[in-house]
Amino acid sequence: MKILNVDLGDRSYPIFIGAGLLNQSELIAPYIKGQSVAIVSNTTVAPLYLEKVHEHTKNLSSIDVILPDGEKYKTMETLGQIHTEMLQARCDRKTTLVALGGGVVGDVSGFAAATYQRGINFIQVPTTLLSMVDSSVGGKTGVNHFLGKNMIGAFHQPQCVIIDTDTLNTLEDRELSAGIAEVIKYGYINDLGFIEWLDENMEKLLNRDKEALAYAIFKSCEYKAKIVAADEKETGQRALLNLGHTFGHAIETGMGYGNWLHGEAVSAGMVMAAQLSKEHGWLSEDDVESMKALLRKANLPVEPPAEISSERFNELMSIDKKVQDGVLHLVLMKSLGDSFICSDFDKQALLRVLGVSS
Ligand SMILES: NC(=O)c1ccc[n+]([C@@H]2O[C@H](COP(=O)([O-])OP(=O)(O)OC[C@H]3O[C@@H](n4cnc5c(N)ncnc54)[C@H](O)[C@@H]3O)[C@@H](O)[C@H]2O)c1
Ligand SMILES: [Zn+2]
Repeated sequence: MKILNVDLGDRSYPIFIGAGLLNQSELIAPYIKGQSVAIVSNTTVAPLYLEKVHEHTKNLSSIDVILPDGEKYKTMETLGQIHTEMLQARCDRKTTLVALGGGVVGDVSGFAAATYQRGINFIQVPTTLLSMVDSSVGGKTGVNHFLGKNMIGAFHQPQCVIIDTDTLNTLEDRELSAGIAEVIKYGYINDLGFIEWLDENMEKLLNRDKEALAYAIFKSCEYKAKIVAADEKETGQRALLNLGHTFGHAIETGMGYGNWLHGEAVSAGMVMAAQLSKEHGWLSEDDVESMKALLRKANLPVEPPAEISSERFNELMSIDKKVQDGVLHLVLMKSLGDSFICSDFDKQALLRVLGVSS
């Protein structure tokens, strides 16, 4: 088992990473405060892993809250369902909420824990690669509003995160690859050596090799934890984690949510960020090609969908601009493995990358 500490002063917490951790009964107990737990999961994950979590809560009063599966249920209504079931079961301020599932369950449950009786303890048990390496680290919780994704939420740090890599055995291949996109992202943000490791070990990751997965997850959580510890509320450096995301969000919005998985959109988005970096002379054609080759190895897309015209893409990118004080900030690369936040990029170069003829 690997243990990583997320350093946030009195809100610091450990992340446990390893195969079969859900079978280790002594692991969760110290982090459960009080005598009752509410386990929140969904209709897909509960039949697979809820029993294992019950083993940890046998001596406590415990309720299960089972949500419908899907991003479209990451809403205020679902948040209300959790609150209602907890109130009906007389959960109190000492109840610990355990979130068992992917990023959707983690985000909505975390927000429920942040708001139930002004905030209760919670434990994350992420079960998708994306939630292990990204959403379960950093304390962002929330739900979608019909006017925008993740628009309503709170920062709320968990007591601990339990990552049992065995749970990935049941994850669909496409979801696994989408999670790998975020893993690759960390390499391009700050560690070329990690990119080389990923290149050598991609097949093992796709075959769900326990050691390789645990290493990749540990490194990813370590990078994210470091950035979050330096900038918890995203006033600066935390935005580096958005590499590929401004382009990616445009793809997700343009295609309609759910048609491209988030990680797939980020993958094509990273290539576009690399192409724009090449336009500035910071990356070479070979650099861009090597990035594409790695993403392809992970079965990820390296081009935006043909369905979105260049003009529409440009429009979608400027929508992102509106939410950032009128200035478009992009994460670009000075070299592979060295990203930075840039707002004074060449606007014509961006149009060339998008394929807009001037
Ligand atoms: N809070 C943050 O910092 C942060 C960061 C990144 C993403 N997110 C959020 O995370 C969400 C996406 O998370 P996701 O990619 O995990 O999607 P998800 O939670 O929808 O999970 C993907 C699918 O896999 C299923 N699943 C989960 N675990 C499984 C398992 N072990 N075996 C089989 N099936 C399993 C789920 O039921 C779902 O159908 C988005 O809502 C996004 O906004 C949050
Ligand atoms: Zn992401």
